[in-house]
Amino acid sequence: MGLILNDAYVHLAFISLIMLISFVLLRRGKHLNLKEPPLVPYKYPIIGHTIDYYKDNENFIKKCHAEYGEIFSLYLFGKVQTFVGKELFPEVFRNHNDFCFNEAGRENFPLENFLNRPNEFTDTLPRMVQINLSGQIKLYTERVQRQLIKSIDEMIENGKLFNLFGKVFVTFDSSTTQLIQIILVLEPPLKFFQFIIAKPIAATMVGEELSDDKELVNSFANVTTDFIPFLSITPVLNFIHPYLHQQVMIIVFKYLNNPFKMHRELIKKKITPVIEKRLREMKESGDNYVSPIDILQRYTELLHKDYTIDIDVVTDNMIISIFASVYNTSNSLTFCLHELVNNPQFLKEILEEQKQLYKSNEKSYYSTEQIARMEKLDSFIKETLRVNVNNVALQHKTLSSYFTFSNGYQVPKGRLVNIRLGEVHFDKELQSQTADEFNAFRYLKKNSPATRADNSFLTFGLGKHTCPGRHFAVNEIKVALHYLLLNYDIKKSTSEKIKPKIYGSFKFPSDEGLIFEKKSV
Ligand code: HEM
Repeated sequence: MGLILNDAYVHLAFISLIMLISFVLLRRGKHLNLKEPPLVPYKYPIIGHTIDYYKDNENFIKKCHAEYGEIFSLYLFGKVQTFVGKELFPEVFRNHNDFCFNEAGRENFPLENFLNRPNEFTDTLPRMVQINLSGQIKLYTERVQRQLIKSIDEMIENGKLFNLFGKVFVTFDSSTTQLIQIILVLEPPLKFFQFIIAKPIAATMVGEELSDDKELVNSFANVTTDFIPFLSITPVLNFIHPYLHQQVMIIVFKYLNNPFKMHRELIKKKITPVIEKRLREMKESGDNYVSPIDILQRYTELLHKDYTIDIDVVTDNMIISIFASVYNTSNSLTFCLHELVNNPQFLKEILEEQKQLYKSNEKSYYSTEQIARMEKLDSFIKETLRVNVNNVALQHKTLSSYFTFSNGYQVPKGRLVNIRLGEVHFDKELQSQTADEFNAFRYLKKNSPATRADNSFLTFGLGKHTCPGRHFAVNEIKVALHYLLLNYDIKKSTSEKIKPKIYGSFKFPSDEGLIFEKKSV
């Protein structure tokens, strides 16, 4: 009993301390006497705008914009957050010493904390991807195609694995027993595409040999999505203080059993013998060592000291590389296939481009230059990414003691500033009068490839921290679509347009089934 009371006192003291700190911080902000953006009035104390924001984000944000203008603040989960649109968002990206994307990310998803690493741990990844992946994309182009094709074929042939994501219908000729038709019904399609995408990414990250290991590819495919239930814990404790929610997440993550830990252990187990073998060979061969081409090798070379290495550090670097790459790429590929069946009027021309390329190709795989020539497909991918963008995203945390926007409004240190991406991507001035329509060829002959990030296209962010993996991702999506289009007739299972699932400001690919009918057997 005494122990329980003691515990209760400790908790009470802890919460009081946090409230005191919040009060002091709040007063400190007030003392700065800033000219803050208008705070949209709200009815319920503490809850503020949280319910309206999550219930119908698009219309709520539109209404606030119409009534309060370019910059306004909302009270969400116990915190004032600021929202900017097409006029002010470039200032957030330009002033990267004042605003930080990673710091904002850490509030909701403290990955370094989950991994027991310092905040700087993830700092090496952008350069690693920029130099060794996107900067050397030619080294990976053939490998990605080989692994993608293998991955799709394996998934379809290997009924057991495939049945997890839908059904395969195989028809044989009754007299000759010859296979005449294969129809796949993928439901939900995202799970399938996660596997398709994970194998070539694994081949790039840890080498082709390891990417044949099904258990490993399974972990590459699922480590991010298995984490999502943890991220979806409603941050009710944020109403008291954001720190509390973060701490609960860390406790749940670090001390309770969860699928992420299982994937991490498996990845570590699989890469350990490979790293050890490579280090042995590096030591023995010295200058004559022929370095394997993959990200694992780059990290091994960077982190080893006298041919010994902390394998946990390499594992965690692999984990963050997977987090950055697999989920985003497979989501985007799934959106593409949904838009393809939603907008069949563009299919003929896109398919014709793929057939021409296929006919003109003399080798087994395409070169990077040939992939760049899939211009119609590229424009279609960019249009898909434009219309399926999250309504509000790219949250940045204010780092300096305060920041003054060009219209005079100011935000204090620690303020989360969100960008109204939906508004930018559907703005008639930025996107033309047809902004509301899906036009697969919007970017064709405009010198505006899918990888180009600018003030009218923010899917990959903008400025100093623009996604360094975007060239790799777009190439992978292009090759996957090229192969799927040439080999399958793709249809939807209903007559309705497939719409993304919407949670608050986020869009996720629909679970609506897709039908793939093999063209020629
Ligand atoms: C279609 C797929 C992808 C999408 C939509 C996407 C989107 C993004 C976005 C929005 C950002 C934040 C940019 C900013 O702060 O302005 C980002 C950052 C990043 N992405 Fe991607 N990404 C994709 C694929 C990849 C891939 C395949 C990799 C490779 C491993 C990757 C690696 C990274 C890294 C390392 C960063 C952090 C950059 C930095 O902090 O400087 N991404 N990505």
